Amino acid sequence: MKIAILGGTGSIGKGFALRWSKKHTIIIGSRDPEKAKAKASEYNDILRSYGFKAEIEGTDNKTAAASADVILLAIKYDNIDSICKLIRPVLKDQIIVSVIVPMEKNYCYIHPDSTPLKIPVSREDYNADYFCYTTPSAGSAAQELASLLPANIELVSAFHNVPAKKLADLDLELDYDIGVCGNSMHAKNIIFDLVRDISNLRPLDVGPLETSAMIESLTPLIINISFKNKIKSLGIKFV
Ligand SMILES: NC(=O)c1ccc[n+]([C@@H]2O[C@H](COP(=O)([O-])OP(=O)(O)OC[C@H]3O[C@@H](n4cnc5c(N)ncnc54)[C@H](OP(=O)(O)O)[C@@H]3O)[C@@H](O)[C@H]2O)c1
Repeated sequence: MKIAILGGTGSIGKGFALRWSKKHTIIIGSRDPEKAKAKASEYNDILRSYGFKAEIEGTDNKTAAASADVILLAIKYDNIDSICKLIRPVLKDQIIVSVIVPMEKNYCYIHPDSTPLKIPVSREDYNADYFCYTTPSAGSAAQELASLLPANIELVSAFHNVPAKKLADLDLELDYDIGVCGNSMHAKNIIFDLVRDISNLRPLDVGPLETSAMIESLTPLIINISFKNKIKSLGIKFV
């Protein structure tokens, strides 16, 4: 299968490229084709050091999307409008996968146990931060994407809770569940197989695209727990 990873020069794109390249043809997409080529070369060096085939290519996002069977959007939520406009003319029957989590940092006040209770009155009083899910008007990033893409395009929402660092570390065997949402069983079955292509990941059907907010919003929860409890790169596993 030919997989285009748009924004594949970034943190999460790297892990997918390295993990899937053993079985699939990977094209890294970028706004800058030279950056994509340089990243592809960097990923190929990593693969060679593990004795794997190293045939990842890099090009611009539109060219990458045009020739792929599956397009993975490894970009931030703020960029979905422009990426959809860019790739719309080259969309035929590709399956699009969104890993996108709309979230932001919020600030708050945590009362230290050594001082009298104080009510924060200004921004300067805030001494802590946390991430929260920023619900798009459509309900989730995936539903927002659906509204920006042609109606016949099969869209799947998945992989939101996988930490990029662990995904890109080929020394690590991952042990996570991957929630998969979408309205096309055909497309979901293909993505289930792509999940299984990464050793020890288990795909779980979460439901239609309308359920995507539930799985997207787990990511800021995981990051907050990770930071507060100093546990690096958490993921999810249903037991
Ligand atoms: N990091 C994680 O652990 C993780 C886990 C699960 C899901 N996610 C989701 O994956 C997505 C990417 O996260 P990331 O951490 O990989 O981010 P990242 O490292 O910042 O990479 C995102 C890529 O987006 C591209 N980009 C930047 N501005 C753009 C624009 N205006 N238009 C189009 N592309 C643009 C950049 O590629 P070029 O400069 O080459 O174009 C960049 O490499 C996010 O939606 C995030 O919620 C991340």
